[in-house]
Formats: sequence, structure tokens, C-alpha cells
Amino acid sequence: MVNESVISEHYKHGQLMELIETGLREMGKSKDSVTVEDLAPVDEFHIGGRAATEHLVNQLVIRQSDRLLDVGCGLGGASRFVAKTYGNAVTGIDLTEDYVSVGNALSCWVGLQDLVSLRQGSALNMPFDNASYDGAYMLHVGMNIQDKECLFSQISEVLKSGSRFGVYDVMRTSDGGLSYPVPWASDDSFSFLANAEEYSFLLESAGFKIECIANRKDFALEYFKRLKEKADATNGPPPIGLHLLMQSTTPVKIKNMIENIVNGLISPTEIVAQKT
Ligand SMILES: C[S@@+](CC[C@H](N)C(=O)[O-])C[C@H]1O[C@@H](n2cnc3c(N)ncnc32)[C@H](O)[C@@H]1O
Repeated sequence: MVNESVISEHYKHGQLMELIETGLREMGKSKDSVTVEDLAPVDEFHIGGRAATEHLVNQLVIRQSDRLLDVGCGLGGASRFVAKTYGNAVTGIDLTEDYVSVGNALSCWVGLQDLVSLRQGSALNMPFDNASYDGAYMLHVGMNIQDKECLFSQISEVLKSGSRFGVYDVMRTSDGGLSYPVPWASDDSFSFLANAEEYSFLLESAGFKIECIANRKDFALEYFKRLKEKADATNGPPPIGLHLLMQSTTPVKIKNMIENIVNGLISPTEIVAQKT
């Protein structure tokens, strides 16, 4: 089993806050004027960004009184979007201390600190009471987690019966060697991809009923096409974007990910399940 510190080291940054502040200044924004929408290009670290989050969480049938859990929340962009849109409380948990501390500062900037709380910890050892959440979601996290049986059983335990759990992960669509590095791993020693059937089996074993599975390949390729068009039109990346997270490795990681998707090896995939 890979040590979790290998994963948090992969995402650890150190200068993220300064880079985001510089990007905001370039946009003519400050901590006082920035909005949840302004931050979306950098705080939604998954294929399709905010549009992908919206697509998944719309299927979770969220009520304002629901307490939600964002598993592997990263900077918490999805948590802030959900809290702002539905008005409910969201807790995020993530291994990477850097992301959690910057993410909590971003929530203060946009005035959501009372609704959104991010904490450092592992989804494989959740510090929450049983049946304490009414819904949960997980965006591009399972690729870093080998023991998905433990992951789904931990999530199942903290959810109330009848709650929905939405997954949006990069999943295997066929066998074959992947090109690395990719955004979630520098090499295959800490990349743990599984296919949608394996996810479904493990979710069902943890007490979930599968409601739907959607391969989002076309959406992903369209998203990358639009990103490229925008970058070409402006002669480079925007002030705020995922390049602030991946820095100099951004072009090769994006290139490899697109190549792996086009070659039919992987695809971002949604699964919505209900705890029985
Ligand atoms: C690609 S990022 C996605 C972040 C966020 N879900 C988003 O979409 O913006 C993957 C995240 O998963 C987190 N992660 C990986 N393994 C984890 C674990 N066992 N427990 C909690 N977080 C984990 C990483 O720290 C990282 O922030």
C-alpha cells in the first residue's frame, strides 16, 4: 500500500496563495471583490471544472438543510459552489494541508466561511460520526486511492440511509500502458485507476444502489478543445487557472491526459449511487 504522504507530496505547493493573489490582481480583483465564479478556473481541479461539478451535483437532489461531504475536496471550489448555490453547509476533507489552508482562506474571501469548512485528513480514516451527512460527492480523487473498498465503506458509514453519493473520477476504459505524468500522478506507482464496473461492484458491496453511470469522454474532449482555443486566442494561459497548481508540468500532464483519453484508455466518468 502506498504511503499517503507520497500523494500529499505530489500535490503540495508552497506558493499557491501568492500565485492566486497575483492572478487576481491581473484580473483587477482583490480578496474583497473576488467571487466564487472568479475562482472556478483554479479551485476546481478536475476535467471540465465548474461545469462538471454542476452536472454531477445537480443529480444529487440537494435540499438546503442537507449537510454535505466533499471527499478529497482540494481547494474546496466545489464546496463553495454548492454552499453558494443551495445555501447548505459543506464539509471537505483532503490529505493535502496546503490545499486545505489556502481553501479555507478562499472561503473567507468570498464570505462563505460559516458554511464551508475544509479539514486535513484521509478519506480512508474519516474523523466524522456515523450517519452524520445527507449527501456526499468526490471529484477526481479515486485515482489516488488504492483501497477503494475501504474508501466506499468509510463514505457509506458517515452517510444517512437514503443519501446520494456522486463520483466523478477518471476511470479505466481499456487495458494498456498510460502516458505519464498526468495531473494526479507523476508515474504509475501512485495511480490507482479502476473501471466503472469495479467502482460499481465496490459501491454495491459498501451498501449503495447504483442509480446511473455516465462516460463523459465527449464532454472532456470538448472542454480541452475550448481551453486550447482560449489559450491560443490570448497567447497563453489566463491569470487564474489550473497551471497555478501544476506549474511547469501543466502542458505535459494535460497533453498526456488528452492522449490517454483519445486512445480509449481512460475517461472521466460519473457514478451516482444511493445509500440503501
Ligand atoms: C485532482 S485533486 C481534486 C481536488 C478536488 N476534488 C477538485 O476537484 O478540485 C485530488 C485531491 O485528492 C486528494 N486526496 C487523494 N487521496 C486522498 C485521501 N486518501 N484522502 C483525502 N484526500 C485525498 C488530494 O490531496 C487532492 O487534493
